Amino acid sequence: MKGIILAGGSGTRLYPITHGICKQLMPIYDKPMVYYPLSTLMLAGLREILIITTPRDQERFKQLLGDGSHLGCRFEYVVQDYPRGLADAFVVGADFIGNDKVCLILGDNIFYGSAFGSKLKENTDPDGGIIYAYHTPTPERLAVVEFDENMKVLSIVEKPKVPKSNYGIPGLYFYDNDAIAIAKEAKPSARGELEITELHNGYLKKDKLKVSIMDRGTAWIDPGNFDDVLKASQFVQIIEERQGQKIGCIEEIAWQEGYITDAQLAELAEPLKKSGYGQYLLGLLD
Ligand code: DAU
Repeated sequence: MKGIILAGGSGTRLYPITHGICKQLMPIYDKPMVYYPLSTLMLAGLREILIITTPRDQERFKQLLGDGSHLGCRFEYVVQDYPRGLADAFVVGADFIGNDKVCLILGDNIFYGSAFGSKLKENTDPDGGIIYAYHTPTPERLAVVEFDENMKVLSIVEKPKVPKSNYGIPGLYFYDNDAIAIAKEAKPSARGELEITELHNGYLKKDKLKVSIMDRGTAWIDPGNFDDVLKASQFVQIIEERQGQKIGCIEEIAWQEGYITDAQLAELAEPLKKSGYGQYLLGLLD
C-alpha cells in the first residue's frame, strides 16, 4: 500500500498566518503540523509516500522532508495547482499509486491513541474502502454517517445541515486501487469540489465500504482555526510533558519500525540537540 498526504488547500480560515506559510507547515507545539499525519502513515507501516502541495509550498516541504531516505522511506511530491477537492488526490496522484492500494491522510489531521499503529496495519490490504467514524458533538462540520439500528451504514453526507448521527468521518482513508477510477468519474459538487464523500458513496453502492468506529481512547484533532491550532499544541504539550514521550516524532517511529539503525538515529539527532528534540532522540538510544 502507498500513502498520500494531502497538504494543499488555501488555508483561508487561518489568514493572515497562511499568507506566509501554509497550514500544514505551521507548528503544533514542537514540530510542523505535517509530522503528525506523516507519523500516522509510518505507524501504519507505509514507506512510499506522496506529498501533495500547492505550487507555492512544494519547495518548503522538500526542504523539510527531503526524499525520505534519512527515515528509511521514499517521499515523492506533486503539485495540486488548484484546490479541486480531496478526491482530486487520486487524480493528481494516479501515476504514483500505479496498481497499488492507497491510504490518504489529510495534512492537518492529528491522531493519537494506544496501539494505534497496529490497528492501522490491519487496514492496509482493503478489498474496497475502509474509513473511520468518530463521535463528535459537531458533526455538521464533517461528512456524517447515517446508520440503521444494527449500525449498518445507510449513507454518508458531506456537512449536512441536519446530521443523522453524531459520527463524523476523519481524514484518514484506506482504499483498493478502484479509488482512482471512482475519483476520475466523480463530478464536482455544488461547491465545485471533487468530494471524498462521493468516492465513499461509490464504494457503498458496491457494498465495498467498511466504516470502523474509532474508539473513544483515540484522540483526533483537525486544527482548522486559531483556537484549534492552539488547543492541538496544548494537547501535544501536556501529553509529552506527562509521559516524557513525543507524539508524531517521525525519527523515533522510523527507528522503532526498524527503518533506520541506531547510528542513523544518532546522526539525525545531532543537529537537533539545541532545541531538546535531538536530546530526546539520543535518549531513546540509552
Ligand atoms: O477533517 C475531516 C473532513 O475533511 C471530512 O469529514 C470531510 O468529509 C472532508 O470534506 C474534509 O472536510 P474539510 O472541510 O475539513 O476539508 P477542507 O476543505 O478543510 O480540506 C481538508 C484539508 O485538505 C486541508 O488541510 C486542505 C487540504 N486540501 C483541501 C482541498 C479541498 C487540499 O490539499 N486540496 C484540496 O483541494
